[in-house]
Amino acid sequence: MGNDTIALAARIINQGGLVAFPTETVYGLGANALNQLAVAKIFEAKKRPFFDPLIVHIADTHSLKDLTVNVSPMATKLIQHFWPGPLTLIFKKTNIVPDLVTAGFDTVAIRIPKHPLALELIRKANCPIAAPSANLFGHLSPTQASHVKKYLGDSVDMILDGGKCSKGLESTIIDTTQDPPLILRHGSLPIEELQAVVHTVQIQDLKERPVTPGSLPTHYAPRTKLVLLKEHEHFPMPEPGTGYLTYGALEPMLKNWKDVRSLSMSGNLVEAAANLFNYLHELDDLKLNIIYVKPLPLTGLGSAIMDRLVKAANTFNNDRDIGPR
Ligand code: TXA
Ligand code: MG
Repeated sequence: MGNDTIALAARIINQGGLVAFPTETVYGLGANALNQLAVAKIFEAKKRPFFDPLIVHIADTHSLKDLTVNVSPMATKLIQHFWPGPLTLIFKKTNIVPDLVTAGFDTVAIRIPKHPLALELIRKANCPIAAPSANLFGHLSPTQASHVKKYLGDSVDMILDGGKCSKGLESTIIDTTQDPPLILRHGSLPIEELQAVVHTVQIQDLKERPVTPGSLPTHYAPRTKLVLLKEHEHFPMPEPGTGYLTYGALEPMLKNWKDVRSLSMSGNLVEAAANLFNYLHELDDLKLNIIYVKPLPLTGLGSAIMDRLVKAANTFNNDRDIGPR
């Protein structure tokens, strides 16, 4: 991508506009985090409720002192190990962070992404960039520029196309204002890796009520009804309008069925995470009646993948209206 394109994107951010940009996790919908009006446009474009706070993206740790009141030794350790990367940390915020960004909380979520385009954009714009995932609220997360276009189309001023996101799952979120630090969202950084650095991390039970304001029990939903099988439950026989998302080798009855995807034929969870939203988008675009999904093991990235699948399936169990489909 040419320098001019990124310079233009940075100018749009500085003028209070919206730029969708790639990160290693998912595409973000970015605005100048210090400009309330620009941030308000994010909520409008995503149809996101104002009670759901945003992640602020920075390019280097120097920016932390403007945005945060206290960075604990434990947080410093996590930063040294995992930034830039798919880890978001919650800190006490300073007054320059607008209430809209943090939904009125006295804490702010921050991360340094590990994607050259994201970092270049933040550096050129020379301001922290608030960015949620660049999808409509409650829907599938975007892992390619075309996903952003499908959902947000004209409501963003520019989409920086960086190809497919390498990780494909949102960042892991940790609250560092608590000791021991609390995991608020499972994500691209596996818990096992975190625990090797900070031993006292508490794991939130997937079945508990989530404590992250934005972690609603229903989320990440395709338009097509999604049913998550129980462990050891078998897929129903294929019939027209039925799609399958499996893991590992294809079940014999699905070998000749076209509307099936395996997240990873070899049972590799990293590969499965990178494929998750891409395949859900693909199956969703086929306009099937139903998508059956096989559960994954709850180890490593499996926990984060299952978190997304459980929430997607809940959307249909509860018959909750999550807005336009
Ligand atoms: O990988 C990612 O994290 C992507 C990329 C673009 O960086 N962003 C992302 O943002 O997933 P979003 O808005 O879809 O999810 C952010 C989550 C929400 O569930 C929100 O509630 C939580 O972060 N969050 C933000 N600020 C918070 C705070 N102060 N306290 C607790 N949770 C917070
Ligand atoms: Mg999101």
